[in-house]
Amino acid sequence: MIVNFINKKVLPNFKIFFINKDKKNLKYHNISSNSEIKKNILKSLSKRNFKGSLGQICHIETIEKENAENIVFIGIGDETKIEGFNFQYFGGLLVPFLENLQYDKISIYVGDLKKVKLSYENMILYLASGIHLKSYSFKKYKKKKEKDDNKTLPNIDFITSNPIKFKKLFSNFKAVSEGVFFARDLLHEPPNVLNPVNLASRAKELSKLNVKVNILDEKSMKKLGMGALLGVGMGSANPSRLITLEWNGNPNSKSPPLGLVGKGVTFDTGGYSLKTANGMEEMKMDMGGSAVVLGVIKALALRKSKSNVIGVIGSVENMVSANAQRPGDIVKSMSGQTIEVLNTDAEGRLVLADALWYCQEKYSVKKMINFATLTGAIIVALGNFYAGLFSNSDKLSDDLTKSGKKTDEKVWRFPLGKEYDDLLNCDIADVKNITGTGGAGSITAAQFLQRFVKKDVEWAHLDIAGVTWLDKDQPLSKKGGTAFGVRLIDNYIYNNHEKK
Ligand code: BES
Ligand code: MN
Ligand code: ZN
Repeated sequence: MIVNFINKKVLPNFKIFFINKDKKNLKYHNISSNSEIKKNILKSLSKRNFKGSLGQICHIETIEKENAENIVFIGIGDETKIEGFNFQYFGGLLVPFLENLQYDKISIYVGDLKKVKLSYENMILYLASGIHLKSYSFKKYKKKKEKDDNKTLPNIDFITSNPIKFKKLFSNFKAVSEGVFFARDLLHEPPNVLNPVNLASRAKELSKLNVKVNILDEKSMKKLGMGALLGVGMGSANPSRLITLEWNGNPNSKSPPLGLVGKGVTFDTGGYSLKTANGMEEMKMDMGGSAVVLGVIKALALRKSKSNVIGVIGSVENMVSANAQRPGDIVKSMSGQTIEVLNTDAEGRLVLADALWYCQEKYSVKKMINFATLTGAIIVALGNFYAGLFSNSDKLSDDLTKSGKKTDEKVWRFPLGKEYDDLLNCDIADVKNITGTGGAGSITAAQFLQRFVKKDVEWAHLDIAGVTWLDKDQPLSKKGGTAFGVRLIDNYIYNNHEKK
């Protein structure tokens, strides 16, 4: 859906009014100039038991002077408590209505609100951005038209006093949505198309936006000693890749860049520690961490963020074949540490071990965040509502938690500690890739990663296994890939790493 801003002179065919929980603000809204119509609208609101509670929505069609009009009332509960993301969610709520109207063009008037924290401008911008985000769908491989596909996706025009200013302000929101859409495109792409080589060429597309993209092939990785990553890719006919991205939006800065590291397993069969058939197809989303990195970098480039950010992606396919890694193999990582691979399905940490080390060695980062669909255990702990946060820094944890609250991409911090770390000690190598004891699977996975983080580097790991791919519609996404993390990290960078 294309969202735009136009001049006040156009008559709206769609009006939106935000109603608070006691409906007190109904009276200052200019619902209709015709008092008879207004009376009927108020009556039908009561009849439909519209209370103005948060997220309640009521759609009424009227005809005034032969002009068909749609009026939507959206409940906002306590207006002093709502945030930007709430308005995005209202936008998301509207998408099914807008799609079903079968109009080519919809011009929307939005009623003002008092007592909210946001300006009228920002209310509209967040609303528009929510519509934009929720309207995404992945239809690339659907060649046959079904009757459902005849739904016309209308152009949405917001009626504002200063469309030029709005367009300019919206470009930042749009940049973030484009980052989100890029991540979702990659998540939905089938694994026979999106292998490590293909992922690398998709990353290369960002060169057009002045991102410096570099691809390391297996030969170069071997030279660097990346035995942990290469071991995982051994069983695949598709060669592994290490992708690096550099966004240099603040060239005069003397501080080291922020590092973002992503798990890019384009398919995870489990390897010889094979997964069961049921749901294995979902493992095409095991490159979700890399999608976050790519989505964020794209957003930064599009909105010309004044920050310096590095992306490092380890991309492999975890397959079974005569060349595949065996349980019991010992590999040597780039850091020099040897790893006993007791379970080939605990592959994400092996890939990240080398990607994290490379990020620190090559770019001397002092702050690094990694993203990975790392453990099923995080779904047991948090379900689909929070990502797991693991970090050696209270400050970084607090900043990420704050951005999580702002964007409603929430994170929950877990403990790290020697008791858990000790479980990874190994008799015949420096470390083993699973503990072999039950319990705390997400923490011990994080503990494994931390063995590849230098002492003086602030580091956070987000386990996004439970939030990257969902089989139900979400406030801002249809079922499938959510791109959870892109909005969160964009917000984090905006607040903490940008020259203002
Ligand atoms: N990619 C999986 C984790 C995962 C599970 C992601 C469900 C998304 C949804 C990861 O590589 C994995 O297989 N982890 C194992 C680790 C275990 C062998 C220690 C797991 O969680 O079972
Ligand atoms: Mn696995
Ligand atoms: Zn995996």
